[in-house]
Amino acid sequence: MKVTKSEFVISAVGASQYPEDALPEIALAGRSNVGKSSLINKMINRKNLARTSSTPGKTQQLNYYRINDELYLVDFPGYGFAKVSKTQRQAWGAMIEGYLLDRDPLKLLLLIVDLRHPPSKDDMIMYDWISHYDLPVCVVATKADKIPRSRWAKQIKQMKECLSLRIDHPMVLFSSETGLGKDELWGIIKAHTKA
Ligand code: GTP
Ligand code: MG
Repeated sequence: MKVTKSEFVISAVGASQYPEDALPEIALAGRSNVGKSSLINKMINRKNLARTSSTPGKTQQLNYYRINDELYLVDFPGYGFAKVSKTQRQAWGAMIEGYLLDRDPLKLLLLIVDLRHPPSKDDMIMYDWISHYDLPVCVVATKADKIPRSRWAKQIKQMKECLSLRIDHPMVLFSSETGLGKDELWGIIKAHTKA
């Protein structure tokens, strides 16, 4: 997809702040620091519209980005960040769960994982939860540029096995550094947002 317009809309801390224009929404979940915000920036050719940081846990609300006045990318707070309080973690959990189960415009969830490592326990819990509720999901294995190309296939295979990835759930190899996987991922997003 050719992105000609992308704008930050709101950092929503609750359902009353979600947009009301009914455009399709694509949400990105994954553990802290896995590369969710970087992936958004790469998808829309912007250096820093979605805030990235080397300090995990920076994204703490649902951040809405409107793309081409056609759809929203929704950046989630990262899970599995140990240094936030239990109360705060539970509040995020409740907000995300409410969003995922009740949000009508949600068309696809991107579960972002790190290609270099097997999925974390939190990744597996998240994937099982998504599968249980049968939400449309695409797993994106990012940071591919950080390991040699010769290891990609082995890592993908391991990731699929550890998650017990369903055959109807696609997995995309990605790099926010090189743009690997970008066109493929736009293709999958477009397929889920057609009216
Ligand atoms: P939270 O908002 O804390 O949940 O993190 P996040 O998932 O949004 O991660 P973010 O995009 O901020 O990236 C974390 C770090 O990983 C940053 O230093 C990025 O530059 C780096 N990074 C993310 N994706 C890639 C990638 O594909 N390749 C490389 N080499 N670095 C990446
Ligand atoms: Mg982020």
